Amino acid sequence: MDWNAKWIKSQEDLGAVAPEFSVSFALRGPVREAKLYITALGVYEAQLNGSRVGSFILAPGWTSYPKRLQYQEYDVSDLLQEENRLQVLVGRGWYRSRMPGWEGSEYQKKLQEKPSALLAQLEIVYDDGSRETICSGSDWTVRESAVRFSEIYDGEIYDATRSEESSRPVEIYEGPSETLIPQQGEEIREQERIFPARIFTTPKGEVVVDFGQEITGYVETNMKGCAGEVLDLSFAEVMDKEGNFYTENYRSAKAQYRYVCRDGMQTYKPKLTFWGFRYIRINSFPGGMTAVAPERFAAIVLHSDMKRTGRLSCSNPLLNRFFENVVWGQKGNFLDVPTDCPQRDERLGWTGDAQAFVRTASLNFDVEKFFTKWLADMAADQWENGYVGHVIPDLIQNPKPSAAWADAATICPWTIYLAYGNPEILENQFECMHKWVDYITQNTKNAGLWTGGEHYGDWLGLDAPSGSYKGSTREEFIASAFYAYSTSLVIKAGRVLGKDVSAYEKLYHTIVYTFRRTFPDYRTQTECVLAAHFRLAENPQAAADQLASMISSCGTQLQTGFVGTPYLLHVLSDYGYTELAYSLLLREKYPSWLYPVTKGATTVWEHWDGIMENGDFWSANMNSYNHYAYGCVTDWVYSVAAGINALEEAPGYAKVRISPLPDKRLDWLEASLDTRHGRIVSRWEKETALWPERELWKYQITAPVEAEIVIAGKSVTVPAGTYQFYSLVEEDGEA
Ligand code: BGC
Repeated sequence: MDWNAKWIKSQEDLGAVAPEFSVSFALRGPVREAKLYITALGVYEAQLNGSRVGSFILAPGWTSYPKRLQYQEYDVSDLLQEENRLQVLVGRGWYRSRMPGWEGSEYQKKLQEKPSALLAQLEIVYDDGSRETICSGSDWTVRESAVRFSEIYDGEIYDATRSEESSRPVEIYEGPSETLIPQQGEEIREQERIFPARIFTTPKGEVVVDFGQEITGYVETNMKGCAGEVLDLSFAEVMDKEGNFYTENYRSAKAQYRYVCRDGMQTYKPKLTFWGFRYIRINSFPGGMTAVAPERFAAIVLHSDMKRTGRLSCSNPLLNRFFENVVWGQKGNFLDVPTDCPQRDERLGWTGDAQAFVRTASLNFDVEKFFTKWLADMAADQWENGYVGHVIPDLIQNPKPSAAWADAATICPWTIYLAYGNPEILENQFECMHKWVDYITQNTKNAGLWTGGEHYGDWLGLDAPSGSYKGSTREEFIASAFYAYSTSLVIKAGRVLGKDVSAYEKLYHTIVYTFRRTFPDYRTQTECVLAAHFRLAENPQAAADQLASMISSCGTQLQTGFVGTPYLLHVLSDYGYTELAYSLLLREKYPSWLYPVTKGATTVWEHWDGIMENGDFWSANMNSYNHYAYGCVTDWVYSVAAGINALEEAPGYAKVRISPLPDKRLDWLEASLDTRHGRIVSRWEKETALWPERELWKYQITAPVEAEIVIAGKSVTVPAGTYQFYSLVEEDGEA
């Protein structure tokens, strides 16, 4: 792309007000094609002759801005007229918003010092073949827009009473040129509308709209107003024990929304920000509270435009709701960057959360493009010494990387490769992957282990000592285990790419050897999980046995946090404890995946006990109700319960292994997965009619490619097709 356009900004500092840049131009004749190339420091919304250009909300998206800034290309041929006006609104967005909690970071300060600026180039090809280019430059003008305030965390204020401000000349700005890249990720788009489930008055007398579903996005309101009347909304995820509106867990994110009416009927939705919410409180409504009615509101769901690929359903309604909650958690947190949560003053691309969830994410939706972009940001943000940040884009820049967080560098690309079969992701990320392992090698205190670092540990593990967020699993145990795991993934990726990985093979053997000598015993559930799953235990079966007995002896309760949970059920089912794995999955009492569902959750909670049994909140400080990490268990349902497995030797489901494992507490379960090779379906159900007193299972399996099907331990390889199998459990329990 050849940029002739210049960056432009307002001459005066407009403070919190979003500038609107514009240019008018006339066409010379009929147009064959017209393309707008555009980006901003901030987030923009462009209109050509009053119509929105494209459907990308919060463009140009969120990247590691100092290194990479996406521009977009829109075909605008259909929007052109003889006389034209192009207007572009620029809000602070991720670029220039106050990032609460991390305001002090040098990284963020540097971005915030920059002005709201725009770069736009419209390339017109006329029918006669001649060309014309309209470039942002000194002939453009700028004015204050009706958006009086707009930030990611603090919301938006719009004043519809403002009459057209007079336009002023712009100033040319030395904006970035080296870092511009074409759009790489999925666009964020409006995906669906949700209408109020109910409107009610709380014990405090506040009027609240419940959309019945926690979402990420904004609210569109239509109302009849007199000039100066105000629509004022607050957002919340949950109501407190007394049934009152609760916002404390948004912490310092102001999450406000204020619209000042003009006269008459009007419909408004914000343009340059978003909220995570289920409820809105009406602080003020044009015409007074009596004018509040369900038909006035629609919640608009925003997320990256990923295609849905996987679906799960079964005979247990709570589990079905949980599956839905996981999907909603993904929608709500996949806004260009995989974030921890969409509501409080955080909303950051936490690497630990992403690596825990990536496998589930890649089953529910096609996330290849989404992760390709985010991982490119990770590679761009990686330091020369191999350090990988706690969040990507890395605005925290904490020089001490954490195990299981930074390991997203190896785990995510490998998972995306397995899911979609394209080695390009490994090609792109290989340097980042091995540099991360090299970082550990160079920074550990003891060769063959990772010691001496600072970590988040088994974050939010239930075996945490009181007052701590970190579970009791030894941090150096976790760090060394992930060191081994990441090294093994570098080896696998290197082999796919035909690289010489002999040094990493040697390293891997050293780590395993040292690990075994250093950690001969396991003290927590997560230690057992990691030792068995990463094959670090000399005897993985013994580690799994120990895990099973630890779980059983504490009343079939899991205690794992972000680190152990993704692999917990896998270890159980891999080593003969499938029934126990199901017991954890189906458990309804705290702690469990279904407990929040019994408490009315519509997304996945950050804490196993975000709302405690007595209705109290776990805490106000760090308590998100839309944190996808624990949704990671869904991958076990696809790959073990339904048995749909990607094979390393045939990534992307070019061949597949389907090995369903039913459990008698469910009457049926079905998983379907749209792969690059077609749709896989695996369904099992109890057959009660034929043989009521015996456990008889019927399986229906569709494979679009050659499949190895394993039923009750017996394996058969079949060509693409739809198949039916039965298994019968004998009286002695043998299938
Ligand atoms: C985030 C997490 C994240 C963690 C780091 C929290 O504040 O919300 O999900 O991984 O910090 O430990």
